[in-house]
Amino acid sequence: MTAMPMRGRARLTVVGAVGADEWPSHVRVRVARAEDAARVRAMHERCSPETRRLRYFTSAPRLPEAALSRLLVPEHGVSLVAVAPDGAIGALATLFHPASEPVAEVALLVEDGWQRHGLGTTMLRSLVEHAAVRGASDLRAHVLPWNRRMLALFDRAGLVSRRGYEDGVVLVEAEVPPGVRVPGRCA
Ligand SMILES: CC(C)(COP(=O)(O)OP(=O)(O)OC[C@H]1O[C@@H](n2cnc3c(N)ncnc32)[C@H](O)[C@@H]1OP(=O)(O)O)[C@@H](O)C(=O)NCCC(=O)NCCS
Repeated sequence: MTAMPMRGRARLTVVGAVGADEWPSHVRVRVARAEDAARVRAMHERCSPETRRLRYFTSAPRLPEAALSRLLVPEHGVSLVAVAPDGAIGALATLFHPASEPVAEVALLVEDGWQRHGLGTTMLRSLVEHAAVRGASDLRAHVLPWNRRMLALFDRAGLVSRRGYEDGVVLVEAEVPPGVRVPGRCA
């Protein structure tokens, strides 16, 4: 398992057109690219079966090639990866958002050794900014009922969320806050 290359408070830099925070640079969060496939596949293989199950609702270690490509560069939406200084990728966060839809779906995976450093919260906040740029009014996530950490993440990211149930899965929904910073746009 790749250890999180930082201690204490998360030290991250979020780069790209959206979500550029000026934090000390150890781990970078940037928009995913097709050529990240091998390193994202390696991350999936390092993850525990439980972490994979919480994200994909199956613990299968390998995603089919086509599914991985769609995840990295979604036709409708954007994915972010967290990259260590040595190039290892330790997290993947995706926003699925067909252009005409008001609601965008988020899904995140932080590999076991990188969890509980604030990375999931940071990446969810960044997805909120991408959702705002794309004009989505609401976010939602489908979460397994025992996934306490993901259920708490919306609150940690400052979102006011509501919960419902859909086919045995918790549906967490939140409005994209009106005050979300959208780089490049005037207030
Ligand atoms: C759910 C998930 C995305 C959250 O990502 P994360 O990086 O672990 O989240 P954060 O670190 O921002 O916050 C989670 C916890 O870390 C703690 N934390 C945050 N920064 C910390 C720090 N610097 N030091 C110690 N703990 C810290 C938070 O208090 C929180 O604690 P809790 O678990 O007791 O509630 C991640 O755990 C994961 O990938 N899980 C498996 C897959 C999954 O569940 N995906 C969601 C499907 S939609």
